[in-house]
Formats: sequence, C-alpha cells, structure tokens
Amino acid sequence: MPITIPKARQFSRILGVGGARASRVVTNEEMCTMIDSTPEWIEQRTGIVERRWVAEGESALTLAEEAARKALERSGVDAANVDTLIISTVSHYMQTPSMAAIVAEKLGMGHPAVFDISAACAGFCYALGLADALVRAGNAKHVLIVGSEVLSEYTDTEDRGTAFLFGDGAGAAVVGPSDVPAIGPTVWGSEPAAHDVITIDDWRQAAAHPYIHMEGRAVFKWATTAIADKAKEALAASGIAAHELDAFIPHQANNRITDSMLRHLGLPEGVVVARDIRTTGNTSAASVPLAMEALLESGEATSGQTALIIGFGAGLVYGAQVITLP
Ligand SMILES: CC(C)(COP(=O)(O)OP(=O)(O)OC[C@H]1O[C@@H](n2cnc3c(N)ncnc32)[C@H](O)[C@@H]1OP(=O)(O)O)[C@@H](O)C(=O)NCCC(=O)NCCS
Repeated sequence: MPITIPKARQFSRILGVGGARASRVVTNEEMCTMIDSTPEWIEQRTGIVERRWVAEGESALTLAEEAARKALERSGVDAANVDTLIISTVSHYMQTPSMAAIVAEKLGMGHPAVFDISAACAGFCYALGLADALVRAGNAKHVLIVGSEVLSEYTDTEDRGTAFLFGDGAGAAVVGPSDVPAIGPTVWGSEPAAHDVITIDDWRQAAAHPYIHMEGRAVFKWATTAIADKAKEALAASGIAAHELDAFIPHQANNRITDSMLRHLGLPEGVVVARDIRTTGNTSAASVPLAMEALLESGEATSGQTALIIGFGAGLVYGAQVITLP
C-alpha cells in the first residue's frame, strides 16, 4: 500500500509580524566609556547611533515571548492553533530544552512541534524558508517563527572591533496558507570555509565567559560582494524586477553594507530601505523582522507591498526571499 502523504498547498504567506526591543538604550557616548572610540567614528562606519541592551528582568526568552504575542495578535491566529514553533537564536543559555519549548509553554500553546535553529543573522530568513516549506507541503497549517537574541551578554565590552555593533531584541512572524503567492523561493546557502570568521567561544575553552569574535573586514568584504549577488538571485528567482520592489529590508549589519547592496542591485529611488540599525544595532536573527515591523508601524511600507529581505552572518550563512508584506 502506498503511504498517505499530507495534502500539499500551493502558497503560503506571512500573516503578521511582531517585535520586541530591549529597554536599556546604550548611546554611542556611553559605548565610548567602554571602548577606545568616538561616537562619530561609530556612526560614520556603521550608521549606529544607539543600540538596545537588556535591562534587569529581560532576556532572550522574555523578548521572544513578547514578539511572538504581537505577531500572533496581528495575524489573528490563536497560540493554540499554531502547529510548529521555530526559534532562531545563538543566545539561548541552555543546550536543552530548546528556547522554543520554553516559549511554547509561556504562550500557552497546545502541543506544537518545537525546535531552535542556529543560523545567526540569516536566522529569520532560514526560519521563513522552513515555515514556507512546511505550510506548502501540508505538514503544518500555521508556523510561528521567532528570531531572538541577547548578544550584549556575549559582547566583550573591551573589544573595540565588536562591542559597538550588537543589540538585543526579538522579531516574530506567523506563516500560514495563502490563496496567492506571497513568499518567493528561498535563496540560501553558506560559505563553510569561512566558518571561523565570526564565532562565539567554545564554552569548553572560554576563559571566563563565551564572547563574540569577528574579522570585521572579511565579513564586510563578503557582504558587499557575494551577498549582494544573492540578493539579485532572490529577485530573479521570484520573477520580480528591481523596479517592482516597494521595500528592501536587509539584515541590519552596517549601513555601509546596505548602501553597497543598493548600488549593486540598482534599486530605484522610490524603494523604501530599512535603516533600523540606527537605533537598534545589529540584533542578528531579530534584525529583519524588527526592521520590517518598524517600516510597517511608521507607514513607510504598507501591507500588501512587495519586499526583498536578506539575512547573512556567522557560519557564514545567507538567506533571502521576496515576500508580500503582512
Ligand atoms: C566592524 C567594522 C565597522 C569596522 O570598520 P572597518 O572600516 O572595517 O575598520 P577597520 O578594522 O578596517 O579599521 C579601520 C581603522 O579604524 C580603527 N578602528 C577600529 N575600530 C575602531 C573603533 N571602535 N573606534 C575607532 N577606530 C577604530 C582601526 O584601528 C583602523 O585604524 P587605522 O586605519 O589607523 O589602522 C566593519 O568592518 C564592519 O562593519 N564589518 C562587518 C561586520 C558585520 O556586519 N558583522 C556582523 C555580520 S552579521
């Protein structure tokens, strides 16, 4: 007898997005009390003016829960009706249980499939690719995806090469069935030979605390060459021309990287470009959904518009899609 398989669906879409920002504002001035730098240098080299770090009582867990609640409310999907919860994080403090298992309990979910993925700053796009595939294959109806990071806890505040970059936050989205195409093909991949360009210490060897280490120039070069091409591939795979885009929401790593991608893609003037890094810093897996939420809340972008999203980072890994904004 042939095995019965789930009934596939043709399309999926993002039904709602939600974000949570840590509450402590760390300005460039404050940052420069920790490292040998100037507020102007940081702003000119990255576009960051301030970032958010967790305050007492906040963690990657509390931020994930807050972002997830908002995404559920905006999508009109009850937590009990979510089949799968995927959290992308490199900041969870336990090997097991997964952050997703803990957040599922906090959200009062039923018995969803729960698991975490580790795809650093490409985490949201990786999770979206998985959610899209699960929904279309008929293996899930509603998938909640979350990127949640508290990188301040892994930041060596004496390292002038990394300390000013990272921020804490979470972003979430609910993915469900759609009548029309609303998530283009996922263009994703990795650069395994460069796995050691951005790392968090091996906990067995960390002297006191695991910290982030990064070869900034190497990452910058990769992001402005190879990654810009991947953004182009995502457009081509979706059959969308640059002039048909309404918004470009790249991972918020560095405004100069974003500028370089814009030139490479040849995006016309009218395309709205996310610049959430200015007040948020680089929140890794949370950066794309946080930037998306910010554009929607400010009215710079609106539901139904077409956006190109791309994440890239430690691994090295990258992931990109063309989506319809929720
Ligand atoms: C980290 C980053 C901002 C550094 O900028 P950069 O222009 O590459 O800086 P460099 O390391 O080449 O250093 C340039 C100069 O600035 C100085 N410098 C480095 N850090 C500094 C700091 N925090 N403040 C002031 N000066 C600094 C260096 O000493 C060097 O001086 P020199 O020219 O006199 O030798 C940049 O490399 C970057 O954003 N890389 C990508 C990082 C990233 O996106 N990571 C996450 C990926 S998900």
